[in-house]
Amino acid sequence: MRKKIVAGNWKMNKTAVEAFVLATEVAQLVKSDVPADVQVIMATPALYLTGVSQVVEGISNLAVAAQNCHEKASGAYTGEISAVQLASAAIPYVLIGHSERREYFSESNEQLALKVDAALANGITPIFCCGESLSLREGGNFLAFVADQLTASLFHLSAEEFGKVVIAYEPIWAIGTGLTASAGQAQEMHAHLRVHIAAKYGATIADDCSILYGGSCNAKNAQEIFAGPDVDGGLIGGASLIAADFITIAKSF
Ligand code: PGA
Repeated sequence: MRKKIVAGNWKMNKTAVEAFVLATEVAQLVKSDVPADVQVIMATPALYLTGVSQVVEGISNLAVAAQNCHEKASGAYTGEISAVQLASAAIPYVLIGHSERREYFSESNEQLALKVDAALANGITPIFCCGESLSLREGGNFLAFVADQLTASLFHLSAEEFGKVVIAYEPIWAIGTGLTASAGQAQEMHAHLRVHIAAKYGATIADDCSILYGGSCNAKNAQEIFAGPDVDGGLIGGASLIAADFITIAKSF
């Protein structure tokens, strides 16, 4: 059975004190309210990863994630953090290829493939983000485009390696816009990606792969979106910054 996952992407939000308060609230609510079979994740700014790790310690279904990692192990890459370093600080998850990284930091499919490799080589679970722009959606070729993103950055992996990857489908036109994909649109893409994965790795691996939806998912619409049989949870931006909303989403299965 594939895992149900709700991951919060804090992006570049929260001061140190605010981050501690939010993480503490989320930790308390996960303990009291969230079923044990739902994995909750907080992707915090890198600065707060070790602090928030201490807050979540001992809560089996709550973990932290980095929002990015560098593909090289070490070296003269000022400002970057490697998967080796994340692993050395016991960070279990990393977002790879968020559309904001692709757009503002020019991350290519090829570079993302290297980042996925680096994460897996260090025992870190990559949450691989994919998704189409509004013009691609309107042009009608979005299913193939997103499947191609998986092919380009993930399909060099062995079946065993691929089995460790989590996928997050995030249509760019729905991120931070308040314009969410409909439950039908999310399910359509997720089913398409699962078929695409099955064609490469077989039905069992495809069935076991958690595919999350992201893009203006909130406490009001999560239940309807998560009802899709191929929707295994969410990657949540804005609504992950308010503990009560985030936890409502985590209880929306
Ligand atoms: P949003 O962001 O929920 O604020 O739309 C989602 C994301 O970018 O991961």
